[in-house]
Amino acid sequence: MTVYEYTMGKEMDLKAEQERTLATPKLPANLILRFMFWQIDALYGKAMSLPKAIVLEILARYPYWAWENGAYHYLSKLYSGTGKVSQEKVETALRHIQMGRESQDNEQWHMLLWADLCHQKGIKLGKIRHFLLPKAMTLVYFCITRVMYWLNPVWSFAMNAAFESHAEHEYMFYAKEHPEFENEPADSVWFKYYPKQKSLADLIRRVGLDERDHMNHSLEEVERLQRS
Ligand SMILES: [Fe+2]
Ligand SMILES: [Fe+2]
Repeated sequence: MTVYEYTMGKEMDLKAEQERTLATPKLPANLILRFMFWQIDALYGKAMSLPKAIVLEILARYPYWAWENGAYHYLSKLYSGTGKVSQEKVETALRHIQMGRESQDNEQWHMLLWADLCHQKGIKLGKIRHFLLPKAMTLVYFCITRVMYWLNPVWSFAMNAAFESHAEHEYMFYAKEHPEFENEPADSVWFKYYPKQKSLADLIRRVGLDERDHMNHSLEEVERLQRS
């Protein structure tokens, strides 16, 4: 039985969950992530903002893509021989493909929502800081996480858990630092894919909770892989 609690699709007390996050330490980040977080702070500011959130969300999709891609490669390898294929190995690959697809979509809705809100607020996004630099960062992040997945998937899931823990804390702290968001409504065309919330503050907290769910999925997968 799982010890992890998942929140997606459930009615949650978002403020209580925000407090819970802020009272819990972040998962420790490895050197790769620490360098990446330092780089993002240096380029987009230490304080969270909608433009910075877009960059985080662009990056957040790449480990999921790497797992999906890696698991498909693995399936091809398994089935390009003539021997009997282990059902357990196939089930693991299928699970990683499913995790990769679902979380990639969720991160994509986050990215689209923040980009739409930036557009509505008239926040200009520059070509270098919001196109070229994220492109370079995602290429490096994808390659690192894909190689980790190939060498030992546990490394990749553990690194992703720490990335998601960082994102969860960033969002919950962002909502706390901006009490004016409590009374600010948030509307977007993308609410046809993502649950609409009462205020911008609740939307930020809901996204923060999604990041906690992503972290827990990765931690659960680390345990599962270490047991097998
Ligand atoms: Fe996200
Ligand atoms: Fe996430």
